[in-house]
Amino acid sequence: MSIQAQALEGASTAEMIRQADSSLMYIVTRPNIVFTRGKGSYLWDADGRKYLDFIQGWAVNSLGHSPPALVRAINRQAKALINGSPAFYNEPMIRASRLLTENSCLDRVFFANSGAEANEGAIKLARKVGAIKRNGAYEVITTHNSFHGRTLAMMSASGKAAWAPLFEPKVPGFVKVPFNDLNAMRLAVNSKTCAIMVEPVQGESGVFVARERYMKGLRELCDQEGILLILDEIQTGIGRTGTLFAYEQYGIEPDIMTLGKGLGGGFPVSALLAKEGVSVFEAGDQGGTFCGQPLAMAAMAAVLEEMIRKKIPKRAKSRGNRLRRGLKAMGQEFDFTEIRGKGLLIAVDLPADKAVAAVELALEKGLLINAPRPSTLRFMPALNISNAEIDEMLAILAEVLRKVL
Ligand SMILES: Cc1ncc(COP(=O)(O)O)c(C=O)c1O
Repeated sequence: MSIQAQALEGASTAEMIRQADSSLMYIVTRPNIVFTRGKGSYLWDADGRKYLDFIQGWAVNSLGHSPPALVRAINRQAKALINGSPAFYNEPMIRASRLLTENSCLDRVFFANSGAEANEGAIKLARKVGAIKRNGAYEVITTHNSFHGRTLAMMSASGKAAWAPLFEPKVPGFVKVPFNDLNAMRLAVNSKTCAIMVEPVQGESGVFVARERYMKGLRELCDQEGILLILDEIQTGIGRTGTLFAYEQYGIEPDIMTLGKGLGGGFPVSALLAKEGVSVFEAGDQGGTFCGQPLAMAAMAAVLEEMIRKKIPKRAKSRGNRLRRGLKAMGQEFDFTEIRGKGLLIAVDLPADKAVAAVELALEKGLLINAPRPSTLRFMPALNISNAEIDEMLAILAEVLRKVL
């Protein structure tokens, strides 16, 4: 038995990293930084260094780091009831479910813990509808370069080329076609198809926005063929693109939608939503130990209430416009080949494969940004970011690009 972990208090960053590297399973190379505190758009490391955060836990901390409304809700709920039982109701679960169904076009919700888990539920639900209404149809059509999560089935559903040879054999039943190509989608539908699943903006692959005609066409195709439209709004939902849900901007309604990331404002929680007629799970079909647990539900309810009360999605849209204008102005100096995105999910393409170098130098200068591709930078700040913080980011970015390009 050892209580060595307590000895970390006062340990140097180098010592903490040595201990981390001797016990954590390797999954990624991390910078030599240990974050200890966050507030709004800023993070501080163990040495007291401050960072401007334009990653926000991968588009997760929708209201920034430790927003007061979320901290209050978690504290209050932790004192009252952290975990009841998934087989019983709890009060925040009821509030969270009403908030989601009353503010979206969907009627029913199942709560889960991660985006991948919500998507797994979406596929199970679509297969069940296929079994009942379409002679056992089970195939789901997804798109090239899509990202739906890291469970075995979601790696099979995703269109990430680098994953194709990994963890074989894949889960069968997924067909992939090019994104934004309605004709390819049409040609892929057959009697085995039960659903189409797409992201309104492909975030992980580099921020590629679905065209309006495409989304409307997908809706029509699904209606004509009697199959389901699943929107993976795990990255685009909860205000990120300038409306509470991205589907609102396309004038269509999905049959099934999944949410995660920004939904808990940093607390791990996700949701699978469906129209009434599609909500066909029977007892025993779906569940999970932590599904709908009170602490997560209270966090989610607090985030949703704050989003709606303070009209945060609308603010994300105007802040997004400011960020785009700033990037556009810089684009003349640095020859950006494209700026794309919606709301506060924005990417720029650099004229050379220098995005990783830019991310590294930005970190040295106290700025967190992401490079989803060798020549692409992605920005996903808190949705309540200030104009001054956007201007600060643009100034650091300009310094960085002057060095790396
Ligand atoms: C669109 C989309 N779907 C699913 C996921 C997976 O979510 P999680 O990592 O919470 O399982 C992600 C994560 O980046 C995502 O962007």
